[in-house]
Amino acid sequence: MKLIIDTDPGIDDAMAIAYAAAAPEIDLIGLTTVFGNTHVHQSSRNARFLVDKLGLDIPVAQGASAAHGKDDHSPSEHVHGPEGFGDLTDIPEIGQNHDLTAAEFLVEMAREHAGELVVCAVGPLTNIADAMALDPAFSKNLGRLVIMGGAVYCPGNITPHAEANIYHDAHAADAVFTAPPETVLVGLDVTLKTLYQNADFEALAQKSADMGVFLRDISKFYLQFYKEIGGLDGCGLHDSTAVIACTHDHMFDLVQTGVQVITEGDALGATIPQDGRPPVTVCRDVDGAGVVDLFTARVASLP
Ligand code: RIB
Ligand code: CA
Repeated sequence: MKLIIDTDPGIDDAMAIAYAAAAPEIDLIGLTTVFGNTHVHQSSRNARFLVDKLGLDIPVAQGASAAHGKDDHSPSEHVHGPEGFGDLTDIPEIGQNHDLTAAEFLVEMAREHAGELVVCAVGPLTNIADAMALDPAFSKNLGRLVIMGGAVYCPGNITPHAEANIYHDAHAADAVFTAPPETVLVGLDVTLKTLYQNADFEALAQKSADMGVFLRDISKFYLQFYKEIGGLDGCGLHDSTAVIACTHDHMFDLVQTGVQVITEGDALGATIPQDGRPPVTVCRDVDGAGVVDLFTARVASLP
């Protein structure tokens, strides 16, 4: 399966990219970057660092630096750290971004791999909305869009109503759900059932001396946030669960519904079931332990 991950790395993004590199069913053909956990230039630098560390020869195309209608973005540094990788600060600039923007690259690749390409969006949906606006054929060309985002039947995380990716560009998200390609929504409804604990990271580090140790080291900051703010003993495998949903949808309980995104007021970013909209596939439940075990088994195989 040909995959592009649209990403704001970001600690759980890094885990998802490592998983995709290790998964035998996945042919990761590129990364597109977006603001969110970090500023977009940091997302791109972090993405290129991960591509190099994983020994991949794939492009990184930079995308949006802010939400539709906004001039800038202020990352929540207390969640992913000042540079997006927890306490790590001196992250080198390796290589360059692709000449195309993220939206241009997504459109080009969907055209080149018409009907086959899967895009897994694990940050705000700005680049996806931009690609849909850039090429009216993008949604038809795209094989499937898998989104880490939303909280359809459960509370949010950035506010009681909203999940962070949707909240950070509610207008873009609502544009996507107004006329969605074939779409799977992997929200907090399932990603908070795939908690990854300190012991899991330590076991991973024992098996994977480079990538496993790196992910353990950058996740300490993230685990601390989950413990102090979320009162949780472990962090959600948010983005990895979405990548796993691209190839293992049998691990999920799925429902079909249209989705509306609230674009103003206290409920900004809420994802509401809406029968008047084209249906998308929403992950309602998951074999959480199975996802955690699959993630560990694959990433532990990395050097
Ligand atoms: O709400 C979780 C999502 O927001 C994840 O994609 C995480 O990386 C952040 O972007
Ligand atoms: Ca993310």
